[in-house]
Amino acid sequence: MLAIIGGSGLTKLANLEVSRRLAARTPYGDPSGAITCGKIGQSDVLFLARHGYGHTIPPHEVNYRANLWALKDAGADSVVSVASVGGIRNDIWPGAILLPHQVIDYTWGRPSTFFEGPGAPVNHIDCTETYSRVMRARLLNAAAAAGERVTDGGVYAATQGPRLETAAEIHRLERDGADIVGMTGMPEAALAREIGMEYAALTVVANYAAGRGDSEHAVPLDKIGAVLEEAMGRVRRIIEKLCEQ
Ligand code: HPA
Repeated sequence: MLAIIGGSGLTKLANLEVSRRLAARTPYGDPSGAITCGKIGQSDVLFLARHGYGHTIPPHEVNYRANLWALKDAGADSVVSVASVGGIRNDIWPGAILLPHQVIDYTWGRPSTFFEGPGAPVNHIDCTETYSRVMRARLLNAAAAAGERVTDGGVYAATQGPRLETAAEIHRLERDGADIVGMTGMPEAALAREIGMEYAALTVVANYAAGRGDSEHAVPLDKIGAVLEEAMGRVRRIIEKLCEQ
């Protein structure tokens, strides 16, 4: 079964026919909220709002382990993470949808593995390709079927937040090879891999990153809401097609 984790701008899926809400408990604590269970078309789907349904949980306080554990426990074997990001390259403009193929983790202090604590085995999972090839291909097919443009590939820099970056930090991320920057991509992607879930991220560019484009002197935060609202309509159409596959 497919699970969707919605980020900023996507706290509910309008096209989801809700059958029930599941208040899950996990050995890692509580997830961000109840899991919404339902159908999109003929497909069973689970939905979870990463920042809570009232958007109250900042990126560094999201319980990523509980979220993924709860979704798996509820029957999910694949995950599409929807996340808003800043565009580092000038040709990655606000409103663009990008399917990253790689991630660099700059976060710190977040519980980031299931393999720790009493009784847990030592385990080094392979992260060469953290995002699932299968899910990426399915999302690209779904976008084509929906007639929505999605940029195939990009390097996601996961920063700690909750503050946005300095212009110099963005320059450094670009030198490191990053194309987009967001605050929730890790440890989520690695944790999904640790528990064997097929995981890919569909990222929506909310703004140019600090120092780029019209964010040259400041990120225009007042514009982000409208950009995300429009783009999430396209994301919903892609997810609809994904559920028809
Ligand atoms: N930086 C980090 N995370 C983000 C940004 C950004 O510019 N925009 C949306 N999420």
